[in-house]
Amino acid sequence: MRRLYLSSTIAFWLLVTAFWAASLWLPPADDSLVVAAEKSYSTADLARHATPADCWMAIRGNVYDLSTYLPEHPSRPEMVEPWCGKEATEAYNTKTKGRPHTPYADTVLVKYRIGKFVIDKP
Ligand code: HEM
Repeated sequence: MRRLYLSSTIAFWLLVTAFWAASLWLPPADDSLVVAAEKSYSTADLARHATPADCWMAIRGNVYDLSTYLPEHPSRPEMVEPWCGKEATEAYNTKTKGRPHTPYADTVLVKYRIGKFVIDKP
């Protein structure tokens, strides 16, 4: 019984050591792949999605595909649709009436994020 206990303890620690040694030997996880998956869109990319049925906006440095959200937006469509395909931070921040959206609107917005907005190179 004592022998069985001893041999299983040794086998256990051998396994632990083997896993630890393997983790030293394996290359570290490549985080750059995760960063590379983030998409970037330019003004020209935005401009190709400028209709209510296919509506992208750039707001606060991010790009959002709002096509499926627009029919749910509480204002009259003509308040929000002209911003499809455009940089719309100011319009979003003020609702074009000098009043900000609520924090709730920000939680809705985040669900439609598709990538980063990059200012086009000159
Ligand atoms: C960028 C152009 C936009 C304009 C000009 C605009 C304007 C407006 C207006 C006029 C209202 C209704 C009246 C009011 O509450 O004062 C409103 C309400 C609202 N909008 Fe927008 N909106 C825009 C984009 C968005 C986006 C992108 C979202 C979220 C994805 C959003 C979410 C909401 C919500 C949740 C409300 C209800 C009231 C609140 O939470 O502030 N809006 N917006």
